[in-house]
Amino acid sequence: MTSFQTRIAGTGHFLPERRLTNHDLEKMVDTNDQWIRERTGIYARRMAEDGIYTSDLAHEAAKIALETAGISARELDMILVATASPDQPMPNTACVLQAKLGAGNCAALDISAACSGFVYGFGIADQFIRTGAMKNILLVGAEILHRFVNYKDRETCILFGDAAGAAVLTRANPGEDSKVYSSHLHANGEIGDLFVLPAGGTKIPISQKVVDEGLQYVRMRGREIFKHAVRTMSDACQEALDKNGMKAGDVAWIIPHQANLRIIEAVAKHFEISMEHVIVELEDTGNTSAATIIVAMDRAIRDGRIKRGQNIMLTAFGAGITSGSLFLRY
Ligand SMILES: CC(C)(COP(=O)(O)OP(=O)(O)OC[C@H]1O[C@@H](n2cnc3c(N)ncnc32)[C@H](O)[C@@H]1OP(=O)(O)O)[C@@H](O)C(=O)NCCC(=O)NCCS
Repeated sequence: MTSFQTRIAGTGHFLPERRLTNHDLEKMVDTNDQWIRERTGIYARRMAEDGIYTSDLAHEAAKIALETAGISARELDMILVATASPDQPMPNTACVLQAKLGAGNCAALDISAACSGFVYGFGIADQFIRTGAMKNILLVGAEILHRFVNYKDRETCILFGDAAGAAVLTRANPGEDSKVYSSHLHANGEIGDLFVLPAGGTKIPISQKVVDEGLQYVRMRGREIFKHAVRTMSDACQEALDKNGMKAGDVAWIIPHQANLRIIEAVAKHFEISMEHVIVELEDTGNTSAATIIVAMDRAIRDGRIKRGQNIMLTAFGAGITSGSLFLRY
């Protein structure tokens, strides 16, 4: 069977302008700038204005990615939106985005893998392009998480923010050097209760009681998630290296899920790679779940850190507990 290679043709990202800083949070909950910086590396998170939806952020990022790729929305074979904060349960956000882009009648679906969603979506898109089934796929990671955060819960409200990032993935032309080496996707549902958004589904439908109890907001066991995050991302990176017969020294950049600077530093240490080879972009965004990796990647492409021909390792973990890696030559 003929096999094709997947190339990132273009990327883009969009961040809402409104910022919620550590000093703003000091006035809302019992916390302080120094604690948040030392424990997370975060100073500010972005917040979409009222009346702006996840599909709007996705639309802004997607327009930039398509323009950079030189591919029109009509040429897309599929739109994937990785999100834990869709516009609504139905229709999916990818279909809403398809209409906003005027992308015709290509396939459109959401990926629900929380913060691992972009890596999951990339792995899925790569399979369609590799086999020749599809040529152009728009993959977006987009979140408006602040609407699912309880600003009375100091353990979660310091972490999350809103953002969108997009990549246009396409079939590489013969002779082009870009490729996805491999993707490695995992989950451990046995410990799924470490990070949950309890209400809004069939288990706990929204009611006044639910709202009074704040069950429409995310809840997590931070310290335990921290340990699993370091282990799962380190393991997923090692799995990708082993599969391709490479070593950490062959990786130009690791782009880990941007949840917490200390988690990222622990992964780098475990992986025996200097922080000079790790993309860190969370100080002014916070954890934007499915958007973090592609936002960080697009920033690093635009400022010249990431160059064509380099080996890049993406790795993520998130609610589920989902995790994975995607290893590529850019
Ligand atoms: C949440 C997180 C920053 C907390 O950092 P930590 O070093 O683990 O801190 P701990 O939970 O051990 O709490 C230490 C103390 O700080 C307190 N604390 C918690 N949040 C605080 C805040 N915002 N400000 C000040 N103090 C805080 C705790 O109550 C605790 O006090 P105690 O020692 O008196 O009991 C960290 O665990 C983390 O980032 N975990 C991963 C979360 C994550 O990434 N979730 C998303 C998954 S995609």
